[in-house]
Amino acid sequence: MDHLDDRFPAISDLRAAAKVRIPHFAFEYLDSGTTEDAAMRGNRAALDAVRLMPRFLKGDQSPDQSAELFGQRYDSPIGMAPVGMTGLMWPGAELMLADTARRGRIPYCLSTVAAKTPEEVGPVAGEMGWFQLYPPRDHGLMRDVLARAWEAGMRVLALTVDIPAPSRRERQRRAGLSIQAGVNRQMLSHVALRPAWALATARHGKADLATIAKYAGSNEMDAQRRFFVENFMHNPSRDYLDALRAEWKGALVVKGILDPEDAVMVADHGADGVWLSNHGGRQFDAAPPAIVALPRVVEALEGRVPVIFDSGIRTGLDIARAIALGADFCFAGRPFLYGVAAAGQAGADQALHILRDDLDNAMRQFGAADLAELRRAHGVVAGL
Ligand SMILES: Cc1cc2nc3c(=O)[nH]c(=O)nc-3n(C[C@H](O)[C@H](O)[C@H](O)COP(=O)(O)O)c2cc1C
Repeated sequence: MDHLDDRFPAISDLRAAAKVRIPHFAFEYLDSGTTEDAAMRGNRAALDAVRLMPRFLKGDQSPDQSAELFGQRYDSPIGMAPVGMTGLMWPGAELMLADTARRGRIPYCLSTVAAKTPEEVGPVAGEMGWFQLYPPRDHGLMRDVLARAWEAGMRVLALTVDIPAPSRRERQRRAGLSIQAGVNRQMLSHVALRPAWALATARHGKADLATIAKYAGSNEMDAQRRFFVENFMHNPSRDYLDALRAEWKGALVVKGILDPEDAVMVADHGADGVWLSNHGGRQFDAAPPAIVALPRVVEALEGRVPVIFDSGIRTGLDIARAIALGADFCFAGRPFLYGVAAAGQAGADQALHILRDDLDNAMRQFGAADLAELRRAHGVVAGL
């Protein structure tokens, strides 16, 4: 890893390399928030503001960052969040991420709208595979998707609830990408400037919504997207959550919660975990920074179910901050994709290495031998 550590000591270095290696529309899709990007910037600013009071004279320590969640032991309290249209960032990205996750023993959550199916990803991810569900309106279709994820070995399901309607994503549109429209001249001009990406995509076959293809009855990306928007994009009710709970045999997590009352409500409806997130600032630009919402959600749940945190994590120190504020586990979206886009499989490995090494360092600087010690909130001195 030594030379990669010199080239990419931080996630920001992977981001910079990704920007010049993939087409502009793909980078903007990955990197942007929505409206004025205020929620996305807010995530970063609020994480930076969390300060932890270090303690000394504890003797030499080798921090243990392993964490248990839903009966599974993970080597670090960080997972790969679901990212749709993943193949746009690099063809085959899902398989690279799943491979990094399996070897690194951290969860990889496959998106409903990824370019690979549960059948393809399950064997690569092994017991590290999770599945993210955008809720199909039709219950028969929902049951079929769940059966596919289960048969692929995925035992944790994350129901995403924070997309009640598509968001505007102005930066993506400016870059020529829209969820309804196909490839256009602006996009082709971006591709022409990124020959390595173009070649890899030509070899691999273009990215589509592979899991949806079966239901859309078409291999055409536009038809799949239309089918997805009409059949999967809606604002599910509590009855829907109950139906899903009755159907899914594994652990069920509800992703996209920010309000403490919503957190308690989903626990009341049988969720095994609450995934606190503002979707990386991509949906509602007035949403509070996820880290600001975290302490109240943790308090309201009173330890009934684990709290998973994402939105804005770029360092291992950010993971330490979230855990100090009561999170049980963290996920990151963009950092792992910056890694793949920058340097393929090695880049995914490097993203995990950066987060893990930095968390180890943060625990040493703070003086925490394990996550339980980090989680004692008296260490938080400022920021919220
Ligand atoms: C390009 C992109 C696509 C995403 N697609 C999905 C998705 O398909 N399903 C989902 O639940 N969340 C999706 N998310 C949200 C992530 O799962 C996660 O909540 C978010 O990226 C966390 O913020 P971070 O990128 O700052 O780590 C997406 C995020 C990005 C950046």
